[in-house]
Amino acid sequence: MNEMSTPASDARAGHNAPGSVTLTLDGTGRSVTLPLIPGTMGPAVVDIRKLYSELGIFTFDPGYADTAATESKITYIDGDAGILLHRGYPIEQLAEKCTFLEVAYLLLNGELPNREQLAAFTTGVTRHTMIHEQLRRFYDGFRRDAHPMAVMTAVVGAMSAFYHDSLDINDPEHRRISAFRLIAKVPTIAAWAYKYSIGQPFMYPRNDLSYAENFLYMMNAVPAEPYEVNPVLARAMDRILILHADHEQNASTSTVRLAGSTGANPFACIAAGIASLWGPAHGGANEAVLKMLAEIGHPKRIPEFIAKVKAKDSNVRLMGFGHRVYKNFDPRAKIMQKTCHEVLAELGIAHEPLLDLAMELERVATQDEYFISRKLYPNVDFYSGIILKAMGMPTSMFTVLFAVARTTGWISQWKEMIEDPTQRIGRPRQLYTGAPLRDVPPLAERG
Ligand code: CMC
Repeated sequence: MNEMSTPASDARAGHNAPGSVTLTLDGTGRSVTLPLIPGTMGPAVVDIRKLYSELGIFTFDPGYADTAATESKITYIDGDAGILLHRGYPIEQLAEKCTFLEVAYLLLNGELPNREQLAAFTTGVTRHTMIHEQLRRFYDGFRRDAHPMAVMTAVVGAMSAFYHDSLDINDPEHRRISAFRLIAKVPTIAAWAYKYSIGQPFMYPRNDLSYAENFLYMMNAVPAEPYEVNPVLARAMDRILILHADHEQNASTSTVRLAGSTGANPFACIAAGIASLWGPAHGGANEAVLKMLAEIGHPKRIPEFIAKVKAKDSNVRLMGFGHRVYKNFDPRAKIMQKTCHEVLAELGIAHEPLLDLAMELERVATQDEYFISRKLYPNVDFYSGIILKAMGMPTSMFTVLFAVARTTGWISQWKEMIEDPTQRIGRPRQLYTGAPLRDVPPLAERG
């Protein structure tokens, strides 16, 4: 991985060695020596588990920006260098050389599948694509104009009421089947959420199609006529799924782990992850990017919009820009931009005004001191919305699609956590700044 090293990653590599940190509590003479735990790559971590028992203090890290809540072998990100690896493989190579199901296998099992393993895994997924017929009736309970993420959260959560035979989290076979069920059924649940919203009949999955093809089929086909899946669009969809498959300990993945740490079943945990993904700072950003581009409307209005973003009291952000971890170009954004051009070419769209606008916005922002000094670059969502729109995907389904892809990462992270013998219930501490101890006054004496 030498060719990927940067000054920042080299500097950090210096700290990736066994050692310790000694902390002294001023004025008490008490100190504690905390071990450093090195990772395979990236910065080492200080093991603070003895801090409270030795010094009686906690650490304070709102947003967990400097806290590793878990050990993981699944995904590695070097945000300064713009590197994303799954099980050691660069995302660029995975997006180029693998299918989504190969990546799903890799995330779940640690290694890429050989031919036989892939065939068995594909069969395992495709044999679980249908959902319990009674779950169909859940859809009728929703308003037609419900956001599909609301439907997703509810129907995925409801899976725990149907698949009782795979709920024992301590049984490896149950965990395996639950993983298959989740990866296989979320596209069906998602496509049906869309079909319900437009009043079209649900399309049952077709197991002769690939994962991406089947999803496009269930979204776009109608029973009245045959539907041919466009192979370029299917490949683009597969790539979009790969690019969203996992991203280490982000908000939704941490939510899944936290819910799972209590022993909750995997369907409940993934439903929690979907809820967490929904917000515009996370998975909802791709939808928000399109709304922002529509609001800007024309390249000539970009300076005005950028000025609004820079005015702190406006509360307006450049959606699709910035990332908690990437302080350089998000590597997924580069692949997404390339895929965007391929899709538009395939669809015969020479000039997509939204893409032109997005590219101009990117050019202006990446040259602006405000964004440069804060290391704000385009993230994966900056271009994904444009591709999805060109593919005919309704805006409200963008985050749903993200959830379909991320289910693989969530269930892999959940499985890793359950199989970790050191796993404990997740229970953060707090810095209490409320009222000190006081007595309850009688009602008549309260102001
Ligand atoms: N537009 C304008 N200013 C920004 C933006 C942005 N998109 N993102 C961060 N900043 C500014 C922020 O105002 C702050 O400035 P200052 O230091 O003057 O107060 C500075 O940059 C640091 O921001 P932060 O909020 O502390 O950064 P964070 O790590 O907490 O937030 C983020 C990360 C992704 C929530 C944020 O960059 C953001 O809101 N981006 C827009 C939403 C978005 O595109 N989200 C998708 C993320 S990628 C897909 C995913 O993981 O779901």
